[in-house]
Amino acid sequence: MQRGPLAGLDRCRGMRNKLKMTDDARLYAPAAARNREPIFHVLERHLPQSGLVLEIASGSGEHVTYFAQNSASGIVYQPSDPDAEARASIDAWVKTLGLDNVRPAIALDAASQDWPISQADAILCINMIHISPWAASLGLMSGASRILPNDGLLYLYGPYRRNGIHTAPSNVDFDRSLQERNPAWGVRDLDEVASLAAEHGFSPPIIEEMPANNLSVIFRLTHSQNAG
Ligand SMILES: C[S@@+](CC[C@H](N)C(=O)[O-])C[C@H]1O[C@@H](n2cnc3c(N)ncnc32)[C@H](O)[C@@H]1O
Repeated sequence: MQRGPLAGLDRCRGMRNKLKMTDDARLYAPAAARNREPIFHVLERHLPQSGLVLEIASGSGEHVTYFAQNSASGIVYQPSDPDAEARASIDAWVKTLGLDNVRPAIALDAASQDWPISQADAILCINMIHISPWAASLGLMSGASRILPNDGLLYLYGPYRRNGIHTAPSNVDFDRSLQERNPAWGVRDLDEVASLAAEHGFSPPIIEEMPANNLSVIFRLTHSQNAG
């Protein structure tokens, strides 16, 4: 368990906590600027060398643009977010950084059965499943199993309970603040997420502990519904 100055601070608390610091549409999420490097250190060991990587809930776009700047040349990123302000920010970051390996952001609600994309080689979803109703997690697993190939990566990042118990006092406080904002939100139990993933054809996850009491949760699809 991490204590000290970062414990509990490394949290994306939703779009309303993103800062606007320029005249264009770019938003700044301090947590994303802090955690994108440790996240990428994990991702670079699991991402394919080439292919299309879909990010769900891209938020400000600071993760996807950082990953795009540091990834193997064969990877193309597809950011997404249901929030129009987020999509404008993502596209503005891509334009400012001059990236040619990031597609324009698309409107994707994970909870929907109708995703505007039919194939991806890997899916990233950072800090969404606790800041959305459980229906978004159901939709995420269902959609990921529809569009990933066998052995496709589904990467989740965020805080989790383990065996029903919070892993740090800061996560207890964070969970309470989430549920005060929306009773359908909250820090999820890793076993419940892994069970849901298994129902959709994913292997048991690889877990990596991350700064500020977060986890990287790495699933591989073993029973794809995507015929290719
Ligand atoms: C806490 S922010 C995380 C943003 C970014 N991934 C990060 O870590 O900085 C949560 C994001 O989830 C998105 N979101 C909420 N519900 C969603 C859903 N049902 N499907 C996809 N994205 C959703 C929000 O629009 C917001 O951008």
